[in-house]
Amino acid sequence: MTASEKLVDLLHLTGSMGVLIHDPSNMFYLTEGYTGEGFVYLTAERRVIVTDFRYTEAAEKDAPGFEVVMTDKDHPASKRLAELCEADQVRELRYESNFLSVDDYEKLRGALGDEISWIPLRQAPQKIREIKTPAEIVTMRKAGAITSEAFEAVLPKIRVGMTETELRLELEYTMFRLGADELAFHTIIASGVNGSLPHAVPGSRKLQNGDMITMDFGAKVGGYCSDMTRTVALGEPSAEMKKIYSTVLRAQAMCEAALAAGKSCFDIDRLARDYIDSQGYAGRFGHGLGHCVGIEIHENPRLSPACHDTLEAGMVITVEPGIYVPGLGGVRIENTCLVKENGSEPLTTARKELIIL
Ligand code: GLY
Repeated sequence: MTASEKLVDLLHLTGSMGVLIHDPSNMFYLTEGYTGEGFVYLTAERRVIVTDFRYTEAAEKDAPGFEVVMTDKDHPASKRLAELCEADQVRELRYESNFLSVDDYEKLRGALGDEISWIPLRQAPQKIREIKTPAEIVTMRKAGAITSEAFEAVLPKIRVGMTETELRLELEYTMFRLGADELAFHTIIASGVNGSLPHAVPGSRKLQNGDMITMDFGAKVGGYCSDMTRTVALGEPSAEMKKIYSTVLRAQAMCEAALAAGKSCFDIDRLARDYIDSQGYAGRFGHGLGHCVGIEIHENPRLSPACHDTLEAGMVITVEPGIYVPGLGGVRIENTCLVKENGSEPLTTARKELIIL
């Protein structure tokens, strides 16, 4: 079944119902390859990409199962949508209320008139995207392999006096050299005291002897993301930082080992949180344990105190505990993992034991 067929099936679309997709991640998913602008229009019978001249040729190549309808000055997107709904006698249109701006919604609604009911899609495409197909998993394995290999490749280049920005550039260049199409997200480099900032922005700080350095980065390959964090030491770290490292490592390994279909996201998060608290770091692990990954870097479900979803085989999720102590530094260790019936498989595979450079 194609991705668009899965959505038609999930929504029980019949003749009078249409679906309107503007979120680029959902457009890519449902067309199985289109990355341009515009929108996707689906009915039980039709698959259409509506876009402008810049993307029509790409749409025809990247989404062979879709008709391509071009917009221009005299036929803007709202007019094209009205023509499609008229031709297909659509009376009910599902739209992405979490994505479409109020301005665009009002413009489209105004052009279509009052006979069409607008119904929120409630993130139905994202729901389907939670479970990866075998082909998606193959692509995500490649993204994970490039990310892991890039880590090993930059280790010999890390030295005292290098700035965080220089290290970021080394990592990013290496991922592209190894085959990344894009970065999965903005690379995080947090050295020394900056390590207490979970989402530190790499800057001009120079690496110093005794620093712990957290690197959180990922390659995007074939439209799919990878996400990995490793913390290394440059020279001998303090006893306190070593204790923090071993606590985070144990929490990460314990939770990765606990992943399996049928497990509760809340319970796995709790496992890490209770352990870190019990080691004297209560309040120092303030973010969720993980998030699903796919076309977007952050997808549902999450391993967090706010998520009571159950893991299913085929989900790809991060396990990333951390401890952050302002004025001292921090440690985070993260793998992206494929959830299986009876366990999990890490898609990022770089070594996790403390590396002292
Ligand atoms: N690894 C970056 C993030 O999860 O936001």
